[in-house]
Amino acid sequence: MQRIQMGPQGPVFSRLVYGTWRLLATRPTAQEINRRINGCLDLGITTVDTAEIYGKYEVEQALGEALALSPGLRDKLELVTKAGIYVPCERHPERRTAYYDATGGRLARSVEQSLRHLRTGRVELFLVHRPDWLARAADTAEGLNRLLEEGKIAAAGVSNYNVAQFDLLNAFMSRPLVTNQIEFHLLRHEPLTDGTLAQCERAGVAPMVWSPLAGGRLFDPESPAARRLADAAAGMAGRYGGASLEQLAYAWLLAHPSRPLPVLGSSRDERIRSAVRASELVLEREDWYALWEAAQGRRIP
Ligand SMILES: NC(=O)c1ccc[n+]([C@@H]2O[C@H](COP(=O)([O-])OP(=O)(O)OC[C@H]3O[C@@H](n4cnc5c(N)ncnc54)[C@H](OP(=O)(O)O)[C@@H]3O)[C@@H](O)[C@H]2O)c1
Repeated sequence: MQRIQMGPQGPVFSRLVYGTWRLLATRPTAQEINRRINGCLDLGITTVDTAEIYGKYEVEQALGEALALSPGLRDKLELVTKAGIYVPCERHPERRTAYYDATGGRLARSVEQSLRHLRTGRVELFLVHRPDWLARAADTAEGLNRLLEEGKIAAAGVSNYNVAQFDLLNAFMSRPLVTNQIEFHLLRHEPLTDGTLAQCERAGVAPMVWSPLAGGRLFDPESPAARRLADAAAGMAGRYGGASLEQLAYAWLLAHPSRPLPVLGSSRDERIRSAVRASELVLEREDWYALWEAAQGRRIP
């Protein structure tokens, strides 16, 4: 498994990242989660992506419990977590409405809690989950800089920021942001054209990409774009050892020069193994553009 340096001074991550947003969907036991993480490690996937809000604020605790079952397991991993989205739920009936809060003090409190839940002294990367339109960038950065200084987070980044928001926050950081985690896949091409990926490439910042399979919509038989992609994938599969649409979709992301790290959404062993095989595929330029055209349903301009 290829390893990627996240920004000029950032941590080193596995090219594929295990995502935990849907982790509790099948109500796995701590033993089962532990088995999945060990399975990822065996395949070279050492980086785990989570967030305070996942599973209605339950996933981090479940992960912490699962990691504690194998002494030394946590130290073999790079943990990424995020905060900044606060929604009313069973755990938080006091909240009247969902809101973002990226003020430095609020993020710091969330990080403290994440560390307790994950049963660790620090995470390798902390991300501001979404831009908070009310937070001053200087304030957000002050909180992140303090967390870096205290060693509670080894690196800081953002998620779902646009180019201007990334630049603004970065200007106040004592150590540069190391990633922007964004939605990018065959059914969402905006990062190719809105400057997001260009900014990453220029800054030497590898983007992390969420929903690399469009959250499963890539396989929706009702979607015309998905049907066109299925046809295009079938037409080129022979050149890639019979690769599936799923695998070609990963290869399409991995081909971008900004070095995106797909955050995998499935916990099924066979789908994770299939993604690992896909990470070895190198798409020919013409096939990359053929998938672009199939997704868009039009010729490149
Ligand atoms: N930063 C952010 O704002 C943000 C937002 C969303 C997610 N994320 C991160 O990104 C990770 C991945 O997101 P995601 O879960 O949306 O990723 P995804 O890989 O695009 O979607 C996963 C979904 O697709 C389904 N799927 C996979 N392969 C399939 C196939 N061949 N046929 C039919 N369905 C298939 C999976 O079902 P099975 O589970 O049954 O395999 C699962 O429901 C999350 O876990 C999280 O860590 C971050």
